[in-house]
Amino acid sequence: MAKRILSGIQPTSDSFHLGNYLGALKQWVELQEGNDAFYCIVDLHALTGEIDPALLRKRILSSAAQLIALGISPDKSTLFVQSHVAEHNQLGWIMECIAGFGEANRMTQFKDKSAKGGADSARVGLFTYPMLQAADILLYQAHYVPVGEDQRQHIELTRDLATRFNTRFGETFRIPEGYILKSGAKIYDLQEPTNKMSKSSGSAAGVLEIMDTPEANAKKIKSATTDAGREVKFDEKEKPGISNLLTIHAALSGKKIGDLENEFAGKGYGDFKGAVAEVVVEYLRPIRARANELLEDERHLVQILHAGADKARTVASATVAQSYKNLGLVL
Ligand code: TYM
Repeated sequence: MAKRILSGIQPTSDSFHLGNYLGALKQWVELQEGNDAFYCIVDLHALTGEIDPALLRKRILSSAAQLIALGISPDKSTLFVQSHVAEHNQLGWIMECIAGFGEANRMTQFKDKSAKGGADSARVGLFTYPMLQAADILLYQAHYVPVGEDQRQHIELTRDLATRFNTRFGETFRIPEGYILKSGAKIYDLQEPTNKMSKSSGSAAGVLEIMDTPEANAKKIKSATTDAGREVKFDEKEKPGISNLLTIHAALSGKKIGDLENEFAGKGYGDFKGAVAEVVVEYLRPIRARANELLEDERHLVQILHAGADKARTVASATVAQSYKNLGLVL
């Protein structure tokens, strides 16, 4: 049976990275087949960081181009921008009124991000961010939410808020489940392979960007941190760098990690890194080209996003109406 799928991504950098793709976007593409998928560029969430208007606009459009180039088809799924569907703010407020301060305060993403600039200078929006994310998901009555490991806590909070609302005010929301892979749900920084690959990473050298040149990405892979050994073997504790490269190779080439270990038995890390670089570069080459081509026709991209928003609004407004009614608001 077709399932309702919902996920979102922030337009906070010029390019998505391979962690975004392997942790989430690859599953977005797969799940659009035979399901009813809603994919959202969460621009309102992006306002919780530094705001540079010209850059934000450029990145929202670039996000749309990259998603389509990666395989999200506007015919098979509903691709839209969060700020185009005002219901996200409407249900976001309701979620803020359902959530407790204590549980919001336990969100590790808030703790990590606010610690970086000093907790006092963090925006209120960064604190309420998970409640808006819960609204994103619940508006669409999603069965599954394909995300990387780092979003697990936000999905749990969403489930708690939905359950609380349903219990207190009557059945309103479907309780969603995270769709989190066993392998690839956390891709690590190439330079510091015990930290996740991240847009806010200290060094760009550890992050493989979809829109980066093939030469730049190949160079990053060849200078990835490994270990003092010689054996290409999956061992996250002793060999985090090699294990991360094995995960990346396997996810993109479709080969099994065990088969890759055999293939590179007796060969050095140099050969292995060369092979990983080739797989990554050849995989990304047509995607980058297609994204750049799509970016040449901004009007067409905006049309796609408006059409997506119209479809999203139909579903979202029904959920808001039901939640308002159950809360006792006069419709
Ligand atoms: P964001 O924009 O940071 O990341 C988008 C997706 O990429 C995944 N991801 C990773 N997966 C594996 N390894 C990594 N190194 C890695 N880095 C990022 C993330 O888990 C995510 O799935 N709060 C969300 C955006 C959001 C959302 C939503 C997601 C807003 N509303 C509703 C799902 C449903 C975020 O900041 O993702």
